[in-house]
Amino acid sequence: MTLLVTGGAGFIGSNFVLDWLGQSDERVVNLDALTYAGNLQNLASLQGDARHVFVHGDITDRALIDRLLAEHRPRALVHFAAESHVDRSIHGPGAFMKTNVEGTFTLLEAARAHWNALQGDEQSAFRFHHVSTDEVYGSLAPDAPAFTETHPYEPNSPYSASKAASDHLVRAWHHTYGLPVLTTNCSNNYGPYHFPEKLIPLMIVNALAGKPLPVYGDGRQIRDWLYVGDHCSAIRAVLAGGRVGEVYNIGGWNEQANIDIVNIVCGLLDELRPDPAGPYARLITYVKDRPGHDRRYAIDARKIERELGWRPAETFATGIRKTVQWYLAHADWVANVQSGSYRDWLSQNYAAR
Ligand code: NAD
Ligand code: TYD
Repeated sequence: MTLLVTGGAGFIGSNFVLDWLGQSDERVVNLDALTYAGNLQNLASLQGDARHVFVHGDITDRALIDRLLAEHRPRALVHFAAESHVDRSIHGPGAFMKTNVEGTFTLLEAARAHWNALQGDEQSAFRFHHVSTDEVYGSLAPDAPAFTETHPYEPNSPYSASKAASDHLVRAWHHTYGLPVLTTNCSNNYGPYHFPEKLIPLMIVNALAGKPLPVYGDGRQIRDWLYVGDHCSAIRAVLAGGRVGEVYNIGGWNEQANIDIVNIVCGLLDELRPDPAGPYARLITYVKDRPGHDRRYAIDARKIERELGWRPAETFATGIRKTVQWYLAHADWVANVQSGSYRDWLSQNYAAR
C-alpha cells in the first residue's frame, strides 16, 4: 500500500514522513515543490530507502497529480503542502491563494476523478486527509472557551483566510461529490526541522547568534503549542479511524503567552549552552506588532480524544527541552538553512539520477 503525501519536505510533512516510515513499511510518495520552506535534508536519513519516493512538483499541476494517482494508486492522500507563514502572507498574499486555495482545489479534483474510477474495497478505503490550522477560527477573547469543531470560521490573516477557503472546498467536495475526506485543524507546532522564521526556532537560532529576540507588540498573545510528533500521531489516528467527512481539532492543552515561550527558551539555553555575556533574556527586544495580530488561539481537543483515544504524549516541558536540544545538536542543519545551501541539495543529490 502507498500514501501520497504533499509538502513532505516541510516542517510537519517531513516529521510525518520520518515518523510514518519509522513505524510502518507502507510506501510514501512525497510530492513537494521545494519552496524556501522545503528542505530535502530533513529526509536525508531516507536516502536509498525504496519506501520513500520523492517527486519534485507542484500541487497546482493537475497532469502531474493525475499521473501520480494513476501510477501509485495510493490508498490515501495526506495534504500538508501550503504556504504557512502569517508574516509572509501579509507581505505577499498571492502565493497563499495559489498554493493553499488553487492547489487544494486541484488536488480535490484529481482525487475525485481518481476515486470515482476506483472500485470495491479500493474505493471505500480511499481517504483525502486535509491538514489545516486552528487559525481559521479567528481570535478568542481572554476568557472565551477554546475552539471546538463547530466554532464559526473567522479568519483574520491572508494565511488563515486561504486555509479557511481550502477547508471549505474540502467540505464541499465531500458534501456534493461524496469524496471521503478528513480534516484536522491543529494548533501551533514546534519541534525538529522547524524553519527559523517561526517563533520558537527563530528565538533559539537568534539567541545562539547573540542577535535580538524580536517579540511582537506586548508579547501577551496566546497560542496553544503542540509537539510536532504529537501532531503526526494525531494524523495517523484520524487517518486510521476518523469518520469520513468529519473535522477533528488537535491541540496540546498548552496555552502560553509568546513572552513566556521566549523566556522558557532562554532559560533552557542558559542551562544547556550558557553564554558568558549573560542570560539570553537580555536579548529580548519588543518590536512593532504584526498587523491584524490574533490575540488568542486555544483548542478543545476532546472530540479526537473521545472518538479516537488520542492525547499528546509530550508535555510542553518535555517537548521544548527536546526541541532546544535538537537545535543545539544540529548546528549544521541550522547553518545550511541560514546560508541557503540547503537549496542546493536537489541539484547535488538528483543531478546525476
Ligand atoms: P512548511 O511551510 O514548513 O512546509 C510546507 C511545505 O509545502 C514545504 O516543503 C513546501 O516546499 C511545500 N509546498 C509549498 N507550496 C507547494 C506547492 N505549490 N506544491 C507542492 N509543495 C508545496 O509548513 P508546515 O509548518 O510544515 O505546515 C504544513 C501544513 O500544516 C500546512 O498545511 C499548514 O497550514 C498546516 N499547519 C501548520 C501548523 C504549524 O504550526 N506549522 C499548525 C497547524 C497546521
Ligand atoms: P508564528 O510562529 O509566526 O506562528 P503563527 O503566527 O502562525 O501563530 O508566531 C507565533 C506567535 O509569535 C505569534 O503570535 C507571532 C509571534 N511572533 C513574535 O512575537 N516574534 C516573531 O519574531 C515571530 C516570528 C512571531
